[in-house]
Amino acid sequence: MRVTTSDIRKMKTEGKRFAALTAYDAVTARILDEVGVPLLLVGDSLGMVVLGYENTIPVTLADILYHTRAVVRGSRRALIVADMPFMTYHRSMDQALENAGRCIQEGGAQAVKLEGGRVMGETIERLVAVGIPVLGHIGLTPQSVHQLGGFKVQGKTLDAARRLVDDAHAVESAGAFAVVLECIPAEVARLIAERLSIPTIGIGAGPFCDAEIQVSSDILGWLPDFTPKHTRPYAQLAHEAAAAFRSFQEDVAARSFPTAKESFSVPDDVLVQLRKELSPTR
Ligand code: KIV
Repeated sequence: MRVTTSDIRKMKTEGKRFAALTAYDAVTARILDEVGVPLLLVGDSLGMVVLGYENTIPVTLADILYHTRAVVRGSRRALIVADMPFMTYHRSMDQALENAGRCIQEGGAQAVKLEGGRVMGETIERLVAVGIPVLGHIGLTPQSVHQLGGFKVQGKTLDAARRLVDDAHAVESAGAFAVVLECIPAEVARLIAERLSIPTIGIGAGPFCDAEIQVSSDILGWLPDFTPKHTRPYAQLAHEAAAAFRSFQEDVAARSFPTAKESFSVPDDVLVQLRKELSPTR
């Protein structure tokens, strides 16, 4: 039985802080599931950390559906949230309904995430009304990177902080089961967390949120050229992978891989007969 959105909401009521992570493939999802991470987000960060794009904007609904299906296949317990890509829910209510529906029906996700506060209120309300749970996302909303002028901390002025608080309330009133607060000052996040009854899930939002989400690749040290200030690498997988690939390459060149241990054999009589039948090599 998978974690439900009610379970996620209950964790706030019970004061249980939880961790969430992104996942894009079945193998990682299985590890995260075994570790007991209750919420896996198939984030559009996929574009940057898996597909090699500069930002999340080129990610398509087909990309998210493909990776969501893999994450669903790899997990049994976690709640799977599919991130709705840029311009797949902005054009009209019908478009939002259709694409969110595809994330649930074709992707197998149990919820969707979409970016935006007050401006997304009606959309969230409608999706929730037809039975699609929504995770909100406010603060630094990467799909608006061009509008925001870069990946910048949000809510630093009084006006901007007020707008964030209003956005958080709008997302909650519209029926979202939780809200991601990305890259906002810790004290502003604290004020929001204290005022909402749904869980606030921080990333770059300080220690006072009800939960914390991070991009798995950042936690694993998989992309060491850029480590955002708000993350902490718990492993150095890129270095380990490079060392492993280098050793493999050296062993192949030195003819120490593969050995008999990594090879398959044929019965002696088959080999003797085969040698007889073949002309001698030069
Ligand atoms: O796409 C993503 O990974 C996200 C998280 C940063 C919350 O939206």
